[in-house]
Amino acid sequence: MACCCESNASTRGTNAFFSRFSKRYAKQFRKKGLEKVQRYLLEGVKRESIQGKNIIDIGCGVGSLHLTLLKEGAAQSVGIDISEGMIDQAKKFSSELGVQEKTQYVLGDFVQLADSLHESDITMLDKVVCCYEDLDSLVQTSTAKTKTIYALSHPKENFMMEAFFKLQISLGKLFRWKFIPFWHDWQQMRSNIAAQGFNLIYENSTMAWQVLVYKRA
Ligand SMILES: C[S@@+](CC[C@H](N)C(=O)[O-])C[C@H]1O[C@@H](n2cnc3c(N)ncnc32)[C@H](O)[C@@H]1O
Repeated sequence: MACCCESNASTRGTNAFFSRFSKRYAKQFRKKGLEKVQRYLLEGVKRESIQGKNIIDIGCGVGSLHLTLLKEGAAQSVGIDISEGMIDQAKKFSSELGVQEKTQYVLGDFVQLADSLHESDITMLDKVVCCYEDLDSLVQTSTAKTKTIYALSHPKENFMMEAFFKLQISLGKLFRWKFIPFWHDWQQMRSNIAAQGFNLIYENSTMAWQVLVYKRA
């Protein structure tokens, strides 16, 4: 497994937080399979053929999305995550599912690692954009790596979600949590993605998450 060596307090906090929950994510995937938001993401991704395609899964977690696409005919995937625990679980699943030859895992911050990665046909960021402070750089570097399909989910823009996130952020700052989520300007994010040359081809939502799938124009 390749590793990104430059960590800061923020990435160390993200690593510690998500590594602590990685076994829970794995248990959930093993017991229940894909979450609703993930089923929607893949529904959007599969508007185009996935056969033989290369995937970058940013903030891949335990690998649910790219492993599913590999089983269904995608060629190769690179899973990147700041959390060591998540990467360990994803590697275990890839072996169990017999697709380890098609997977590569990289530990670290995608924004720092982007230059060392090949372009992808499909890039996915499921529930990642609210875990990273510098959203503009994340969008800029990830869209630049994407040849065709760019799929992401972000917290739904409604009063309940905004209040929930802002409460977590305030508590996190007050109690100096190691990991604090982010509430970004999601309309600005959409504009930035469009400005990189992508058209929205699919949109859906759950109670908590908005799913957006774009195709390069
Ligand atoms: C809420 S979890 C979602 C995991 C997975 N996508 C899923 O939906 O099950 C967010 C993940 O994104 C990772 N992450 C956040 N920012 C990242 C970045 N810039 N580069 C790589 N991973 C990142 C975190 O470590 C965490 O595992």
